[in-house]
Amino acid sequence: MQRIILPRPDDWHLHLRDGAMLQAVLPETARHFARAIIMPNLVPPVVTLADAAGYRERILAALPEGTAFEPLMTLYLTEGTDPADVERAAGSGLVKGVKLYPAGATTNSQSGVRDLDRVMPVLEAMARIGLPLCVHGEVTSAEVDIFDREAVFIDRVLAPLRRRLPELRVVMEHITTEEGVAYAAEGGDTLAATITTHHLIINRNHILAGGIKPHYYCLPVAKREKHRLALRKAATSGSPRYFLGTDSAPHVDALKEHACGCAGCFTATNTLSLLAHVFEEEGALDKLEGFASRNGPAFYRLPVNTGTIALEKRAEPCVWPAKIISEVGPVTVFDPGFPVHWHVLP
Ligand code: DOR
Ligand code: ZN
Repeated sequence: MQRIILPRPDDWHLHLRDGAMLQAVLPETARHFARAIIMPNLVPPVVTLADAAGYRERILAALPEGTAFEPLMTLYLTEGTDPADVERAAGSGLVKGVKLYPAGATTNSQSGVRDLDRVMPVLEAMARIGLPLCVHGEVTSAEVDIFDREAVFIDRVLAPLRRRLPELRVVMEHITTEEGVAYAAEGGDTLAATITTHHLIINRNHILAGGIKPHYYCLPVAKREKHRLALRKAATSGSPRYFLGTDSAPHVDALKEHACGCAGCFTATNTLSLLAHVFEEEGALDKLEGFASRNGPAFYRLPVNTGTIALEKRAEPCVWPAKIISEVGPVTVFDPGFPVHWHVLP
């Protein structure tokens, strides 16, 4: 029997929502993860320090009794964001990053940024104090093919921004392409990239071949196989530039299985088992600790968690609930499509 023990991992990109959905999905993350970077794309979005402090209280109140979990809050960058509020937010210790959504790029991104010039004072303040910018890296122009939007974003938006403000610390969130992998590799220590669990497992065929599978649809959308392989290589490389951000994003089934279905894969429940499977396939189980437990804290300048978590490979496959039941409806748990034998020990 094989066993691995890791420092308790963190999720450096997570959607928890609010209200009944928060109540239903938070235990799925808190069971295995010590901390998570909490995405601010609520309706209305989490824009100010006061918004983030209120949301953080609601998360803590929704935790199951006796669970230790620390939400690391982010602010949603708008063209009206006040640099002084961002500085106060960083100083409070509650807020660990500011999220850039290009307006229209994804779920609840309408209040995001249309013109980067208008947020330069905020970005300059962040560069000065070392607060990371968490970037949804896709352009939104209708003429750019959806499968090219990440690579085009790097060329047209991210690279020029980093030339203009080289001290700005940037996390390229949920990279999905070999171009993303390559750009992150060369960025020096002001740049990092998160990788989701599902992008290590699915390519675009999983979404579209043999019938449309809405539960595999997320943004950035999964790309060709060569990109999935590049992500696997990066995640298992041992490079400190890459770490886990699940982008676990719950939507009720009624809105996933819909004529205009929402983007998001819900992987909080089975992420760690899936990662152990992937890292073992890549012959890199020894690199899982860096990816899930060490590289993220190093970039965010936080201590590695002191607790541990153990996984054990057993003959029988893991069994997860197919759905998490919330008061607003069921949420389908990501199905990798193959048996997984790495059990997280309680
Ligand atoms: O698939 C996604 N779902 N990508 C995002 O960027 C947002 C997220 C959500 O909030 O549902
Ligand atoms: Zn996300």
